Amino acid sequence: MRIDIITVLPELLKSPFEASILKRAIDAGLVEIHFHNLRDYTSDNYKSIDDTQFGGGAGMVMMVEPIHKCIEKLKSQRNYDDVIYMTPDGETLNQGMANHISIKENIIILCGHYKGVDQRVRDYLITREISIGDFVLSGGELAAAVLCDAVIRLIPGVLGNETSALTDSFQDNLLAPPIYTKPRDYNGWKVPELLFSGNLPKIEEWREAQAYERTKVRRPDLLED
Ligand code: ADE
Repeated sequence: MRIDIITVLPELLKSPFEASILKRAIDAGLVEIHFHNLRDYTSDNYKSIDDTQFGGGAGMVMMVEPIHKCIEKLKSQRNYDDVIYMTPDGETLNQGMANHISIKENIIILCGHYKGVDQRVRDYLITREISIGDFVLSGGELAAAVLCDAVIRLIPGVLGNETSALTDSFQDNLLAPPIYTKPRDYNGWKVPELLFSGNLPKIEEWREAQAYERTKVRRPDLLED
């Protein structure tokens, strides 16, 4: 998979890709990440990427031209499955969307800033708009990093144990059950006895019941659909 990220602040985005699972995925050639600084696609001396709103109103608007030039250049080099715009008024990211995106070949992610982008970018260039939750960040970069992390860990071969992504919370619309490790008794805080029984079908049944119970209490909305 190849991900092209268009941003005015590439430095804000670099570190998540320089550590841990994401770095391993890049080093193993399972994913390529390319950053494109919008200021490299400006046509004036000031390298402006934003301007005031037509019709008045507070806040600057990101201009069409640099974004269009950057996307057109990328599209002239390969085909893209999706051109995603990170925005608080997009579709809220969930595990199903992450699964869906993880099987794409090439995607572009555009990070917004200021008040957002000129509506024509959204009307003519963007194929999908994604929010990471009902709150407003100062830019789309951290949201893009969240999307990339959620997607990249699902690419086959990225996680050491292939089954571990399948048992994540949300994969079957249930939250994950409680987990334990050594010691068996810490400070009198005990691990449930059943987990030492060696009875794998019973343990699996217990985990499913726990996952269901946890979901019912914390996220009953997940059980509705
Ligand atoms: N840009 C600013 N806030 C955002 C959010 N919540 N999700 C995605 N992109 C954003």
